[in-house]
Amino acid sequence: MIKRKAEHIDICLEKQVEAKRPTLFECIHLIHNALPELNFDSIDISTSFLNHKFSTPILIDAMVGGAPESFEINNNLALVAEELGIGIVVGSQRAGLSFPSLAETYSIIRKKAPSIFLAANIGATQLLKGFGKEEAQRCIDMIGADAFVIHLNPLQEVIQVGGEPHYKGVIDKIHNLVDQLSLPVIVKEVGFGISKEVATKLELVGVSAINISGSGGTSWSAVEHYRALALGDKEKADLGKTFWDWGLPTAASLIETRKAVKIPIIASGGIRSGLDIAKSLALGASLAGMALPVLKQVTISRDSLASFFRKIIYEFKTVMFAVGCSNVQTMREVRYVITGELADWSKQT
Ligand SMILES: Cc1cc2nc3c(=O)[nH]c(=O)nc-3n(C[C@H](O)[C@H](O)[C@H](O)COP(=O)(O)O)c2cc1C
Repeated sequence: MIKRKAEHIDICLEKQVEAKRPTLFECIHLIHNALPELNFDSIDISTSFLNHKFSTPILIDAMVGGAPESFEINNNLALVAEELGIGIVVGSQRAGLSFPSLAETYSIIRKKAPSIFLAANIGATQLLKGFGKEEAQRCIDMIGADAFVIHLNPLQEVIQVGGEPHYKGVIDKIHNLVDQLSLPVIVKEVGFGISKEVATKLELVGVSAINISGSGGTSWSAVEHYRALALGDKEKADLGKTFWDWGLPTAASLIETRKAVKIPIIASGGIRSGLDIAKSLALGASLAGMALPVLKQVTISRDSLASFFRKIIYEFKTVMFAVGCSNVQTMREVRYVITGELADWSKQT
């Protein structure tokens, strides 16, 4: 499992692993305001999510932990996140639970970022293998978490060499954990999106927030395709190729999930600019999450990551000025027009 994580990181850094089909955010057109009646410097981009204050509505989505190189990556993510007031979801903590000596590759984040929103993370399939309240509490204590994230990755489990595509009974297990944990539980996808049907089930069992993680960004079919190729498994490599662009495009997933549930939503999957963040908020998200671009920058240097986020924040603030919004709350009420393929999706939801 540790070797696999290291292989995933290497593939993500070396290969083209993004979906070829877009997020469909390009079909959202925010309405320009030629009379914004505000000064750029007075724009407030702070927000709160699950009672935690963020300086900016950005989350570093779940990635690493466990593999030895994770220590340095998480150390640098933490320092930048603390400086800029950004939240972090850690990568799956399975390795840290199985090998306590690896716990510090995760816990370094809380050490270096004492004030940020930090969320624990485990895969849904673990819940079917005896992972319960006690294990969840160990994950939470490992990093001083503010929330507990469960990731759903059924398609990835099928394509992955050595994957475990067992999902029967997962929703009941999620329900049990929600009842047993005192922290909020968030459920996320890994890049294929959440539909309105799934969102409704999650809300009904008491989940506190949903991270839709739709398609248009990192494709786990692509990542597992390259890993299968390297391992000489042609059948899995072909499967990964076939499902490269599977899933609900992020903007489509966000629209249908927003219509279906009242709980907060995080938009992720292909978020690549401050404009994407602004569009996510306009469609009803509370935060926007990013994974792959963050990994690419942090492995260049900590400064490179900090400059990347400053650029994104500047873009986001510029959109807010251009649509005449002085704070994040009003950004959620801004007018927009939906065109093209996304208009077709939204008509049918
Ligand atoms: C290197 C890497 C490792 C990831 N590992 C995890 C993980 O352990 N748990 C998880 O919930 N999601 C994981 N993800 C998925 C991301 O959190 C996110 O949902 C997905 O990559 C889409 O966002 P993006 O297009 O910005 O990369 C990982 C993503 C990357 C790039």
